[in-house]
Parts: sequence; C-alpha cells; structure tokens
Amino acid sequence: GKGSYEHYMKKEIHEQSRAIQDCLRGRVDPETNHILLEELAELDLPATVQLVACGTSYHAARYGARLLREHGIAAQTFLASEYRAETVPVDEETLVIGVTQSGETADTMRALREANGAGAVTLALTNTVGSSAARECDHVCYIRAGPEIGVAATKTFASQQVALALVTGVLAETAEPAFLQGLAELPAQIQTVLENSQAQALADAYVDSDAYFFIGREYTAPVALEGALKMKEITYKHAEGFAAGELKHGPLALVTERTPVFALLTEGSRLEKTLGNVKEVQARGAPVIAVTDAPQTVERYVDHVLEVPSTHPYLTPILANIQLQLASYWLANRLGRSIDKPRNLAKSVTVE
Ligand code: F6R
Repeated sequence: GKGSYEHYMKKEIHEQSRAIQDCLRGRVDPETNHILLEELAELDLPATVQLVACGTSYHAARYGARLLREHGIAAQTFLASEYRAETVPVDEETLVIGVTQSGETADTMRALREANGAGAVTLALTNTVGSSAARECDHVCYIRAGPEIGVAATKTFASQQVALALVTGVLAETAEPAFLQGLAELPAQIQTVLENSQAQALADAYVDSDAYFFIGREYTAPVALEGALKMKEITYKHAEGFAAGELKHGPLALVTERTPVFALLTEGSRLEKTLGNVKEVQARGAPVIAVTDAPQTVERYVDHVLEVPSTHPYLTPILANIQLQLASYWLANRLGRSIDKPRNLAKSVTVE
C-alpha cells in the first residue's frame, strides 16, 4: 500500500534511493573496478547499438545512447513506434535494446520482434520478470526498481538510467573509478535531494502559469524532455522540454512572464551556454527555476534554485530529474489532480 504517503507517486519518488541500491547490488566489483552484469555474460560485443522505447523509457534511452557514444560505441535511439528494422541497417552485429519498464508496451514489442526477425541480437532492459520483452529477447537485464503503481513513471526512470550506465560499462569494457565512486554515493545523494528539496514552494508561486518549459543540454537534455512529460501527465498543463540550444529556433516565441522555465544548469553539461539561454528567456520576463549543482555560480541569474549534490557528470541528470519529479508532483497536488491515475492514461500501453 501507500503507507503514510498521500499518493503512490510520492512514495515511489521517495523509493528511488532504495531502488538504485537494489539496481547496483552485486553489480559493481569494488576490488577490480569492474561492472558485472551476470545476465550479459554471454553477450558478444556488438558493432552498433540501437535503443527502442516509448515515453519516459525513450528519455532514459536517449541518456543511455549518449553515454554509449561517449564511450566510443555507435548508438542510436528510436521511438519504438517509428522503428522499422528494414529502414535501418540491422544485422547480427547489431544489439537492439528495448527499454521498457513494463516489458509489455506494444510499440516496443513490435520493434523488438522486427529486430529479432532481421537477425539482430536483442536485449530487454525491463523491470518485469517474465514479461513479454524478457521472453522475446535474447538477453535480459532487470532494472530492479520494484513494482511501480503510479501511472507516471518515476523510480523506474532512475533505475533505467543506472542500468543503462551499467550496460555501457559492460559494452565499453571499462568504467572510470570516479564514475564508480559516483554510483556508490548515488543512493545517499538521492536521499539528500529528497530531504532538502524546495520544490513544494514553487507550486504556490506558479500554479496559475500558462505553460512550463524545461531546458537542458547534453546529459541533461533528456531530463528536460522527461520533466515536461511528467508535468503534462499529472498536472494537465501545457509543458514542453527542449535541448536548450533549440530555444531560439522557435519555442522562444511562446516565452512570456506567464511561462516559468526550468533550466538544468549543471557542471559538466555546459552550464555557461545554458546560462545564455536563461538570459534570453528572462529578457522576455519568464521566471527561471534553476536545477543546479553550482548554486553559487547561478543564483544571481535566476529566481529560484533547486540544488543537487555534485557528482560525476553522467549521474547529475538522475539527481536533477528528482527535483523535477517533485516540482510536478507538488503542482499536481496543489491542483487536486488524480496523480496516481491521470485521465486518459494507462500504466501499460498494449495497443500500437
Ligand atoms: C510516462 C510513462 C510512459 C511510459 C511508456 C513506456 O510517465 O510512464 O511514457 O514510459 O508508456 O512504458 P514502458 O517503459 O512500460 O515500455
């Protein structure tokens, strides 16, 4: 049950520290600095990787693909509904990863079946033991988030990100000590974010806004997309996420004093450039909420600061996203929305 929590979503947001501990358990060897995913012991190193997913899982996939590319592995992300094995080169040296917490999403299942049919090696990255994706794929890696009841995905997103970071370590056959150190500290840092978040105060300030925008860059760009998706799902308000550099290529026309902008201003994701975008929206009167690991650097430029602890740049997006989850949660709560079961949505989408 929900225990003392008002909603499953809030409970699941607060379970993220535990979920990440579970995802990591036994998978990092502190002696050898190696990542061990027993499930992938039989996997041959692929020439290229394609990630297929929908919704929140697609945002995790975008994060994973960037991480893979940074390690020299050719990786591309596809919306599962847009994936056609015949239009992209797929062969037995292609690893197709289906990122799907339920393991039942129809679009993702179709993409995985096509990939299998085209001879690819397939991997299900899922939360659900025995799910359709786990059965369809040659390999399976469990994210171990535990059951998620809230329709809006929260802890499964964090666990997908961490699991994709582990898969990257396996495929790259290396992991930086600083990154492994960051992984080890991540559960405690998540707890710090949960205990100190100032996100609730934003709900009163911005409940009447026309729309909410989210901007991020590089590692935090997928988090900007995810922040906006969560906001629209549970508040029913207009929200959009962009790679910060895209702002001036169109979306800026929508920015007014009634459109708060959540800016992911983190070290390691070109903070100075995103600060330039912050100035552009402020010149149009938009309030800016910074999610940052560098409060001293950014606070004089923004209206609010949601702080996250400093960590390895690969892991900052996971912490930053939790602040955005909380911001959406408190706004939806203030609006009295049906947070655990938003209108028109289902937990698992089993039709294409
Ligand atoms: C959003 C959300 C959806 C799912 C999407 C894919 O909060 O939950 O966007 O992420 O339907 O679901 P899975 O991961 O089960 O394939």
